[in-house]
Amino acid sequence: MDLGVDTIWLSPVYKSPMVDFGYDVSDYKDIDPVFGNMADFEELLTEAKAKDLNLLMDFVPNHSSNQHLWFLKSVERIHPYSDYYIWRDPKIENGQRKPPNNWLSGFRGSAWEWNEKRQQYYYHMFAVQQPDLNYRNPAVVEEMKNVLRFWLDKGVHGFRMDAIPFLFESTSLADEPKADYWKWFEPTDHDYLNHTLTENQPETYSMLYEFRDVLDSYRNRDGRTRFMMTECYTDLNKMMPYYGNGSRNGAHFPLNFRLVDRLNRESTAADFVKTILEWEATKPADKWSNWFIGNHDQKRAASRFDAPLIDGLTMLIHLLPGTPITYYGDELGMEDSFVRWDQTVDPAALNVGRKRYKTVSRDFEREPFQWDASSYAGFTSANHTWLPVNSNYWKVNLAAQKLNLRSHYNTFRAMAKLRRKLTVLTGSLKVKALSTWQFCVLRSLEGQPTFILVINLGSDIEMTNLSTVQPNLPDTLYVYAASENSLQEPGSPVQTSKFLLRPKQALTLSTIEVY
Ligand code: GLC
Repeated sequence: MDLGVDTIWLSPVYKSPMVDFGYDVSDYKDIDPVFGNMADFEELLTEAKAKDLNLLMDFVPNHSSNQHLWFLKSVERIHPYSDYYIWRDPKIENGQRKPPNNWLSGFRGSAWEWNEKRQQYYYHMFAVQQPDLNYRNPAVVEEMKNVLRFWLDKGVHGFRMDAIPFLFESTSLADEPKADYWKWFEPTDHDYLNHTLTENQPETYSMLYEFRDVLDSYRNRDGRTRFMMTECYTDLNKMMPYYGNGSRNGAHFPLNFRLVDRLNRESTAADFVKTILEWEATKPADKWSNWFIGNHDQKRAASRFDAPLIDGLTMLIHLLPGTPITYYGDELGMEDSFVRWDQTVDPAALNVGRKRYKTVSRDFEREPFQWDASSYAGFTSANHTWLPVNSNYWKVNLAAQKLNLRSHYNTFRAMAKLRRKLTVLTGSLKVKALSTWQFCVLRSLEGQPTFILVINLGSDIEMTNLSTVQPNLPDTLYVYAASENSLQEPGSPVQTSKFLLRPKQALTLSTIEVY
């Protein structure tokens, strides 16, 4: 509330053995005791509504836990569960039992696991304990639509749809070809293959449109939108049909991973400009954008980029057109916690082994939230946390940042406020490189103030001149928000044609003195 956000996306809280921390669901219609019970959930929803906050659930349709009753019965071939999962006979080579083909799991190694009892392999895109559901079985489709209905009936506002590209696999059991860059990977790495048969199949898009119809049937009853965003790390051309296909609606937006997977601390101003404009140019004109710099699967933004750049990145996602999304703690500039091998719990990291786990591990960014300087950062009164608290909690924490007007937290709040201005909601966009390391984002709307973000990505202090970016800019601009490392104070004037930016400094400027 205080932060200025209006929607919360909860990562999965369903009943789960927690092999993949909730993404292995053993009961889609119950809450795991780790989080409380259904009454606690309902109270959360009621409280959220009282505060005008929307609540989105994480919907995990691709796979269940191998502890789900459906799977246990499927193993036994009990009707109607026998075909709820993707079961295939082995390939026999020289009298030896082999997986049906070369398909690989996203968590490394073959995507096929032998089941002794059923005497067949089952397909799992993720961990062995996460068998993929069979969407070619209409009963499964109906079960999963009923899961959506269950939570919509409770009053949730929508869903983040997990791992959508993997819903369907081709019925052909052919091998997948090697990826263009296969040499960079080990043969057991998911990226070693080009996933022509296991990702973004035509049926997957249609299924998503069907899920959207379920959500819309609720809107048709009471006029309130039920929201859907999809997770897909995919090329732009395969991404855009997740919005819909012209005649049918898909997600309100597919999550836009471009600031996460295309940019890093070596990126130039031109890289940022290209990354932003490519998305805007490819997105269907009548659809809504979204921007973010992190999530629970990626190293934290303050660690992927130089930590002081966090304010600039916060400004960027709020000033670009569309919805900004923030992974908890990024508003404080929380950095990755180093998680030793003996502390590692992420199945993806455990699967690749000690030598390579650091690049893959998602434990680093899943540290407890840093509330204050008390023990365990105020996260718990217990004497242990599931992952180590970042040792910088004594200085990087919410309580400290609330007291400091120039903190990351207060910059975030200022930007969340700015995002509600007409110019930012509906104005035009210009993104331009000013030098190798400086770029600006300009938002303008007839009759409204113009806002300009300028960021110095470089390692040197640089002079900036914005006078040529757009005709008729006034000679003086006012600092609306300034990164913590700024030379200028919020509220102060700068000369449009001449002002200095420190390395990693960012300013959001306005044509009027808003302060
Ligand atoms: C998504 C989730 C990730 C999870 C995976 C399998 O990518 O974001 O955390 O491990 O799906 O469900």
